Amino acid sequence: MSYEFILTRTEGRVGIAQFNRPKAYNALSPELMQELMHSLETFDADDDIGCIIVTGSEKVFSAGADIKYMARAAAPADMLNSPLIGQWDRLAKISKPVIAAVSGFALGGGCELAMTCDMIVASESARFGQPEIKLGVAPGMGGSQRLTRAIGKSKSMEMCLTGRMMSAEEAERSNLIVRVVPQADLIADVLKTAATIAAMPPMATIANKEMVNSAFEMTLDQGLIVERRIFQILTASEDKKEGMAAFIEKREGQWKGR
Ligand code: CAA
Repeated sequence: MSYEFILTRTEGRVGIAQFNRPKAYNALSPELMQELMHSLETFDADDDIGCIIVTGSEKVFSAGADIKYMARAAAPADMLNSPLIGQWDRLAKISKPVIAAVSGFALGGGCELAMTCDMIVASESARFGQPEIKLGVAPGMGGSQRLTRAIGKSKSMEMCLTGRMMSAEEAERSNLIVRVVPQADLIADVLKTAATIAAMPPMATIANKEMVNSAFEMTLDQGLIVERRIFQILTASEDKKEGMAAFIEKREGQWKGR
């Protein structure tokens, strides 16, 4: 895969997509978003990939939606029909786990993109924020919803209304991210988690992701029904038979993804 604004590579069963628009602080233009989604969907369709990492540079994950592009939009229809909008839905539909590895600024759409991933690991330099209010607008790609669900009403309200940035340490304390690691260790740390996930039985991995996401989108009753049904379906999988046999025989499981 070769793109203008996204660099891709693989490490074993892990696919890595890295923003590559340094002069614009990895601002999310329609072209960059289309390339990102194409790269993620390609990894998602590849049986040799079990987990995906999205990352930026040491200085910046992404400074958000491209303000120079958005400045040209004058009417709701300009945004309604924009190839920028709707890309986040494609990210949310990736079936394999996606980890955001964040250093530097993750602002506006950059923060929203990281929050749309399944988990965030950050380095000490990470700064999260929803500064859209300073531009006369508001989050448009899920920021007000995902940030509030992650860190609670008061803190989310303060972040959105003041546009202030949150440090990596505060983000960890506020449950926005999994953990903070030293800058130099970020990719190695995230790769370790991603490789662990990528080595799990593929059907069970997708099922676990779906179940946790259901907790955000359904009532407890509905979520428990979904969980029970998926659990019942997995009972008939070849990997379930293999996983339990491997435990009893004290050996590693060999997964078929069936
Ligand atoms: N869009 C377009 N270009 C951007 C950008 C963005 N979101 N963020 C930074 N850039 C560009 C700057 O225009 C500048 O380019 P030039 O050199 O051509 O002028 C370059 O990146 C470097 O930026 P700065 O000179 O401002 O760098 P800095 O180190 O002084 O500040 C920053 C860094 C704090 C991230 C600052 O650039 C900033 O505040 N950026 C905007 C952040 C923001 O408001 N994001 C929200 C966007 S709206 C959004 O995302 C809407 C949504 O929810 C859908």
